[in-house]
Amino acid sequence: MSPLDLRPTLVMGARGHIGKHVLDGLSARGLPVRASVRTLAPGRFPAGVAVFAADLTDPTSLTLAFDGVAQVFLYANHEGVAGVIAAARETGVERIVLLSSGSVIHPTSAGNAITEEHREVEDAFAAASDLVVVPIRPLVLATNALGWVYSIRATGSLPLYRPDAVTAPIHERDIAAVAVAALTGSPSPRLSELLTGPTGISQREQVAAIAAAAGRDITVAELTRDDALAQFSRFMPAAEAEAVLEFLDDADAGNSPTTSTVGDILGRPATDIGAWAVDHASDFC
Ligand SMILES: NC(=O)c1ccc[n+]([C@@H]2O[C@H](COP(=O)([O-])OP(=O)(O)OC[C@H]3O[C@@H](n4cnc5c(N)ncnc54)[C@H](OP(=O)(O)O)[C@@H]3O)[C@@H](O)[C@H]2O)c1
Repeated sequence: MSPLDLRPTLVMGARGHIGKHVLDGLSARGLPVRASVRTLAPGRFPAGVAVFAADLTDPTSLTLAFDGVAQVFLYANHEGVAGVIAAARETGVERIVLLSSGSVIHPTSAGNAITEEHREVEDAFAAASDLVVVPIRPLVLATNALGWVYSIRATGSLPLYRPDAVTAPIHERDIAAVAVAALTGSPSPRLSELLTGPTGISQREQVAAIAAAAGRDITVAELTRDDALAQFSRFMPAAEAEAVLEFLDDADAGNSPTTSTVGDILGRPATDIGAWAVDHASDFC
């Protein structure tokens, strides 16, 4: 993309945990931005930001939202890729930064439903070789812990499957910063390497960090696999619930790595879980 190109960047999912930081990061650099959400609601974005209603599964909405933008940040959605590709070609989008998943390139995650849905999206974009598409690949989001809010707030205790499984959760702001680097710099394979937080930490230690930041006691109870499957299946399709348990089994077996990619790309250390817990302390009170 030409540095003189003043066409805006569209941030889809601009209310999402990662998307909102992408929008903020581009705005903070003084770059022209456009936001999209699936359902318009007043008052959510800074004055001057044009907001479109766009759904990755609705090609007509995509053509309208893409028209006049130079590049797009978007979430992986395996149901909408063909329409995204067609809309990008029709409107002359020059670069797409795709929030994908590190599981696509993490060998022991291969085969589970969540990994393969992300791979399907990546493969479809890779086949559209006339488009520049940069996948961003975090392995484990720190925001997964927001799924613990209800139990912690309601009972002060948290039932967990594999509480001693170690992962390196990554702060949503760090993922967004890498996406902003991909939207503002030259394409580089480094941008698509596995993204993690700075250190491995068990789920139990994550809970302790949240308890310290929120100033409250939280007890951890261990869930059986059957109970965990039933619990996750209340919020997601059964195959995805099984995939979550497989990620945790894999982590418990010592297979969830820590990488230096965030620091290498951003030139500053990745954010640790203690700082994430401070940022989100009020969610848990
Ligand atoms: N959980 C993990 O450990 C993990 C690991 C690796 C990668 N990931 C990836 O990270 C994503 C979660 O990121 P996040 O925390 O920022 O999620 P989030 O806060 O739940 O936000 C998701 C955003 O996606 C948008 N969206 C969903 N479906 C859409 C559609 N059909 N058309 C347009 N926009 C749509 C939503 O838009 P609206 O606000 O308009 O509804 C929302 O803003 C996952 O979906 C996964 O792909 C997760």
